[in-house]
Amino acid sequence: MKVVSFSCKIYDRQQLCRSFPPSWDSQTVEPILDKHTVVYAKDADVVSAFVNDQLNAEILQILAGYGVKMVALRCAGFNHVDLAAAHRLGIKITRVPAYSPYAVAEHTIGLMLALNRKLYKAYNRVREGNFALNGMLGFDFYGKTVGVIGAGKIGRLVGERMKAFGCQVLVYDPYECSACEALGLEQVPLATLYQRCDVITLHCPLTAETNHLINADSIAKMKKGVMLINTGRGALMEPESLVAGLKSAQIGYLGMDVYEKEGALFFEDHSCEIIQDDVFERLLSFPNVLVTGHQAYFTQEAITHIAETTRDNIQMFMDGELLLNEVTA
Ligand SMILES: NC(=O)c1ccc[n+]([C@@H]2O[C@H](COP(=O)([O-])OP(=O)(O)OC[C@H]3O[C@@H](n4cnc5c(N)ncnc54)[C@H](O)[C@@H]3O)[C@@H](O)[C@H]2O)c1
Repeated sequence: MKVVSFSCKIYDRQQLCRSFPPSWDSQTVEPILDKHTVVYAKDADVVSAFVNDQLNAEILQILAGYGVKMVALRCAGFNHVDLAAAHRLGIKITRVPAYSPYAVAEHTIGLMLALNRKLYKAYNRVREGNFALNGMLGFDFYGKTVGVIGAGKIGRLVGERMKAFGCQVLVYDPYECSACEALGLEQVPLATLYQRCDVITLHCPLTAETNHLINADSIAKMKKGVMLINTGRGALMEPESLVAGLKSAQIGYLGMDVYEKEGALFFEDHSCEIIQDDVFERLLSFPNVLVTGHQAYFTQEAITHIAETTRDNIQMFMDGELLLNEVTA
């Protein structure tokens, strides 16, 4: 049984070594899976892949040709997989449905607090002996209205926690959220959420419908100076309209853990290179923008759970059992 895991940093490799049975021929590859690296999967039975690995029809076709029968995603989102092609080629796809919704919810709130109270500026100022408070003025979250788009596991945890800050929390989800009422989260139409919220945070999956959900039109419907947070998926936001919204001060704060073109940047050290993505660089130039590199999930609990669930998914496949975490077209 040969398992090749792509996008494996040192911390992934260590965790997979701890979690995968020693009887498996388990190999880890640091680069992302793409047409240049796919060759590492030769003779593998199973490939394990992460968020920015390319699993389009072309790559899946090559994997099938190598004899790969299963792709075990080490992430929840599967927007990067051509499920129809996988089905056609007889490749099973599984995922880790929730590794730690707490990790992502806590990071989301961390971005909100850091942006509001400019903690990223305070860190540098104080270290340089600058204790001046000009430019550091924040606001009380108490009494503000927070909008959560996507009332799933993460969205509800964020909503619950913002309730504890004394916020009113509105949620938008196309499906009825039966758990929301008991948590004190008010389900409203999207237009109402845009109109009433001081803070808007994205927790819906990336689909054809939610692609560029945050664009010039939707930003124009929001309150002036809104705080926007995205720990969902980069392409939920259209980056050029974020730049325009920040320039006009329609957006007062922007926190992002994900970015549409993050595949070319995130999880790698580019500090000695000239970054070619001008829109990304423009976003970083604003004093009221805080970007983290897809680290919201990154807690010990989450990476342990990812590795163990991936192991269980692969074991179920080997044993011919029903794949509980299978995703299909
Ligand atoms: N930054 C990270 O490290 C990280 C880690 C894990 C997950 N995520 C992202 O967070 C997202 C949410 O995760 P989750 O575990 O809460 O998922 P979930 O499936 O529990 O919840 C998603 C919710 O979004 C709703 N939804 C579907 N279409 C929608 C639409 N058009 N508009 C609004 N809501 C819609 C669903 O009904 C569901 O309630 C994932 O899809 C993933 O992209 C990011």
